[in-house]
Amino acid sequence: MMELVVAVVVGARPQFIKAAALSRAIAERADKGLRPVIKQVLIHTGQHYDYQMSDIFFLDQGLPAPTQHLGVGSGAHGEQTGEIMKRLEPVLGDLSPDVVIVVGDTNSTLAAALCAAKLKIPIAHVEAGLRSFNRTMPEEINRKLVDHVSDLLLCPSAHAASNLKSEGITMGVHVTGDVMLESLIWAQSDPDEVEEVLDHYGLTSGAYAVATVHRAENTDDPARFAEIISALEALAVSGLSVILPVHPRTAPLLHGRAVPPSLKLIDPVGHSEMLALATASRIGLTDSGGLQKELYWLGIPCVTMRDETEWVETVEAGWNILAGASAESITNAAQKLLEHTPTERPPIYGTGDASDRIIGILIDRYGKAQEH
Ligand code: UD1
Repeated sequence: MMELVVAVVVGARPQFIKAAALSRAIAERADKGLRPVIKQVLIHTGQHYDYQMSDIFFLDQGLPAPTQHLGVGSGAHGEQTGEIMKRLEPVLGDLSPDVVIVVGDTNSTLAAALCAAKLKIPIAHVEAGLRSFNRTMPEEINRKLVDHVSDLLLCPSAHAASNLKSEGITMGVHVTGDVMLESLIWAQSDPDEVEEVLDHYGLTSGAYAVATVHRAENTDDPARFAEIISALEALAVSGLSVILPVHPRTAPLLHGRAVPPSLKLIDPVGHSEMLALATASRIGLTDSGGLQKELYWLGIPCVTMRDETEWVETVEAGWNILAGASAESITNAAQKLLEHTPTERPPIYGTGDASDRIIGILIDRYGKAQEH
């Protein structure tokens, strides 16, 4: 039987969301009986392992349980990346897939791409071409290296493809749109479910801000972190309450801090609950890449608490302000967006068919041999 064997390597929270979109599109092909048959082997590195950081995303997104779980867990960058490579190499070697799909820019992405490259297995990078041009970010190192060893570079936007061109990468580059848009459409709650989430947290639709902080550049720098929390506290006492699902990296930094009651610190939430919180919010404040786009798609303005963003289109469209990490610039940016929320939202990351496009590209490139 004609079969294309695709190994998908995931490990961290945002990757589960993106892989789920692809996985659903693969399952739909199978339901329709389309050829070639795509056999997906899902490999979880174990970079994220808590229920709230991992399992809940598999349940939320209907992602099948991983075929292989490498159980790597946390560690310093070298330790984590090296351990994933050590455990993944024999798995990929035995499996010998037609292509390895890696997603995003985490240590799991880098480790998997390096393993596959050394094993001479083709690599398809989903979310290729993103750049912050800040080489102190671990993610920037990861994504650059991954792009340079990938055979297929699947870009969410034309801008991402132009970043690759300026680094001399032109072969195998495709603009597919963003798979996260499909996950958002899939996981979006209906109004009753949103209401339930708001009741649970004691929130009123349109009267609160949703916030997240987890980037190493913010959490590992006490001065930046203090400014960000001061900004969220100031916002929370100004009449707009703030809800902050706390990433495990951030939790110890907030331990014992007396924040105003209108700054609600909650445990990390699953994707559908996060989308419900974003949908009914008045504004978002974040250092996450994914949330910047989700807020845009939902028509909620966003303050990005970083010095740069990979998602420049959201800034150009006027929905996202890059505020850095000073309390004053964060509160000023929030004020500005609250007073003048833009209205136009061009479809900057595609129209929600990125997974089908990606699958089509994989079949064109790697499916032909099996068809003869
Ligand atoms: C990683 C990615 C980042 C992505 C983020 C999403 C890298 C370099 N960074 O950062 O790009 O935005 O995932 O969350 O890969 N921890 C737990 N339980 C877990 C997972 C982590 O307690 O299930 C704690 C551990 O103390 C760990 C820390 O969080 O040391 C950081 O986790 P790690 O996987 O190293 O990176 P993230 O900060 O999550």
